[in-house]
Amino acid sequence: MKDDSYPQRLSLDKPPGYKQKTAPAMPFPQTSTSDTYPPLANLLFSAEKTLPVPAKHICTLDFLTDIREFSGLGTITTTFIENDIPYYLGKFFKSGGARLHALHEFSYRASFNPHLPEFLIERLSSAGDIVHDPFAGSGTTLIEAARLGRIACGSDINPMAEAIIAPRIGPEITPEGIIHALETVDWSAGHRHSLGLPSEFFNAKTLQKLSALQVWSQGRAPFNDADADPVARWIRMVVLSRLTGHSSGFMSGYTLPPNKATTSASQRRINEERGENPPERDVKRNIIRKTRSLLRDGSIPYDCRHRIGVGDASDTPWIEDASVNLVVTSPPFCTEVDYAFEHWLRLKYFGIDPKSIAFSHIASLKAWTAMIRNMLMEMMRVVKPGGYIALEVGEIKKGTVKLERAVWEAAEGLPCRRLGVIIHDAEFTKTSHIFDVTKNQRGTNTNRIVIMQRL
Ligand SMILES: C[S@@+](CC[C@H](N)C(=O)[O-])C[C@H]1O[C@@H](n2cnc3c(N)ncnc32)[C@H](O)[C@@H]1O
Repeated sequence: MKDDSYPQRLSLDKPPGYKQKTAPAMPFPQTSTSDTYPPLANLLFSAEKTLPVPAKHICTLDFLTDIREFSGLGTITTTFIENDIPYYLGKFFKSGGARLHALHEFSYRASFNPHLPEFLIERLSSAGDIVHDPFAGSGTTLIEAARLGRIACGSDINPMAEAIIAPRIGPEITPEGIIHALETVDWSAGHRHSLGLPSEFFNAKTLQKLSALQVWSQGRAPFNDADADPVARWIRMVVLSRLTGHSSGFMSGYTLPPNKATTSASQRRINEERGENPPERDVKRNIIRKTRSLLRDGSIPYDCRHRIGVGDASDTPWIEDASVNLVVTSPPFCTEVDYAFEHWLRLKYFGIDPKSIAFSHIASLKAWTAMIRNMLMEMMRVVKPGGYIALEVGEIKKGTVKLERAVWEAAEGLPCRRLGVIIHDAEFTKTSHIFDVTKNQRGTNTNRIVIMQRL
């Protein structure tokens, strides 16, 4: 966190910090393991200099009417105003269980239900538009954008994001290509200690095979290299998705599900309670199975203009001024998730010290609001006039803190129109009208999406 103080109200036409940014530079700090982790001084893609203009004009009034009258899932939207914020409460999209595309099936803590970006991308952008997510995580927004024929753009402070997103929106991969590639791996080449992965999670033979795979992929897919072999990048992404979990389909012995981490000490306790050491896993079979599963709905047509970067959401100099049509994003909710801890094993696989990554993990609401404001100022730079920003947050501390209010406040005085907050309540029924929704103390499973339009 750069600044603990809440910035002053801004002039409408020139937000502080607004500057023409042209030099492509990756603002990611060097890690303490720089011998295994190459510098990130390069772009992760071949950036296009000229970006297309929107194919069609989006009418804000139509969008709001659509939300107000939305009854697609059998419920009627409730509208109300609270703290001067217009709210639209209802059930707007299907649950995450209703599959949109198998390529979304990469377990990642606090990831979007893919129907959320789908709903917004379909309504607030057109084919060929640039859709951006500066807190990209596992890339749900980018995959939906690519699937819907938009140009997917995103970044995350976690350098792993590029490695897990790019292969799924990259050139077409087939299970046969993966099987063929795995046949060329020298499975005896690795060493069980070389990855530094702890033995309480992994069997020594599994570690040796994972190391052999690492040796094989290093020449083919150097970390953060846009020209890397797509097949090798895909295999690395699949290994990351299957690194730890609770069944034999994962590389680890029995542990928590893949989107949750545990400490070495807790894992030793789990092993003791189960009376087992991590069993050997079939690395090759697990990669092939997950590949088939991810590709069971086919690939997404590849567009070489997709772009993925690494860095803080408030500093994305590699994105052209006024180039983005729509932002669909979700920042960390204060300290709800400790991303450094959640990803410690996946990052270790890359030779990255999680503590070297400046994840936003902010307890104070005031400091969190300032972080959001910094990020929004960067969005004011990259989003086209008329373009939209949809920022999803939740209610935290058992529903007592509603982060959308802090977002609303953070956008005060920026060159954007705050259109309202969409609350998607998965449990929403007509009986919600009987509830005093304006108090909304229920702390239910809601997504609160602040919608803004760049002036
Ligand atoms: C709620 S998750 C986003 C998940 C994403 N919507 C998805 O579907 O996978 C928040 C993300 O913010 C990232 N993050 C944390 N601090 C950040 C920062 N200062 N700048 C950019 N990304 C950050 C985390 O690494 C995490 O991936």
